[in-house]
Amino acid sequence: MENIDFTLMDPVFEKHEGEEGALIAVLQEAQALYGWLPPELLSYVAEKTGVPPAKVMGVVTFYAQFRLKPVGKYLISLCQGTACHVNGSVEIEKAIGDYLGVKEGEITADGLFTCNSVACLGCCSLSPAMMINSKVYGNLTGAKATEILEKIRAGEGAK
Ligand code: FES
Repeated sequence: MENIDFTLMDPVFEKHEGEEGALIAVLQEAQALYGWLPPELLSYVAEKTGVPPAKVMGVVTFYAQFRLKPVGKYLISLCQGTACHVNGSVEIEKAIGDYLGVKEGEITADGLFTCNSVACLGCCSLSPAMMINSKVYGNLTGAKATEILEKIRAGEGAK
């Protein structure tokens, strides 16, 4: 990641200044700001919080919520939990994979999408379901999922 604007983190450090055990909260807020946690940002967090870099690394690798690789602007979390699986998440996965043309965890060439499989999203009554950033889409079919992505892409192109 080139030219990381570290100043975005100023309010985060201010908010948590002097707070014990704020590392996870700081990292969560950093990820929300930058989309992922590049190594330079982790070093910066270590420096500013005074937590040893190895410990910061230990935390981000321990918790699955932290992303150490860049993701597209729209992060698709495709549910592979039991209910979604039974109701056809494999078909959705195939449709999304065909539409995006990239493997799980990779970014599309236009930088818009990354798709990851996740465990139960907690909305099984809507299965099969996916989440794009923080929005849930349920009762999917392959065609419906593709249509949602097409609409997002068209909206981005129109800007
Ligand atoms: S199994 Fe998919 S939301 Fe629960």
